[in-house]
Amino acid sequence: MVVLSQIMFIRCLIVASALVALSGSPHATPSRQGATPRVIDITAERFEFWPAEVKVAEGEEVELRIRSDDTMHGFRIVGTNTNLVIPKRGKGYAVGRFTGSSPGRYTFECNRMCGAGHNFMRGELVVRPSSTGKLP
Ligand code: CUA
Repeated sequence: MVVLSQIMFIRCLIVASALVALSGSPHATPSRQGATPRVIDITAERFEFWPAEVKVAEGEEVELRIRSDDTMHGFRIVGTNTNLVIPKRGKGYAVGRFTGSSPGRYTFECNRMCGAGHNFMRGELVVRPSSTGKLP
């Protein structure tokens, strides 16, 4: 009987440790941060971005891939550290990440002199509140 109860005890330990391994550490659970962000392609061309309005859900992280259809441009999100050089056509694209931390409208603009309409070359990231789903 002593041997049997020892075996039962060991089995309980194995089951318990298996449950810990399954449910346990936060590292085992894929978090939203670790998830692959939605990719949004943006084209820059004198003197606009297309699309000029990009919608993001509150809390969502997106990857912006910005390419030029003509010359070199810039891409700056006002009020953030995002400040990219968009290589000229055929030379690849710039990659930036944006997280819709709080609802609102965030302006992005070209910040490399690219011609007469440079100052008008801009667009908006629109972060929808998760509660209502409505645009701010
Ligand atoms: Cu495009 Cu300045």
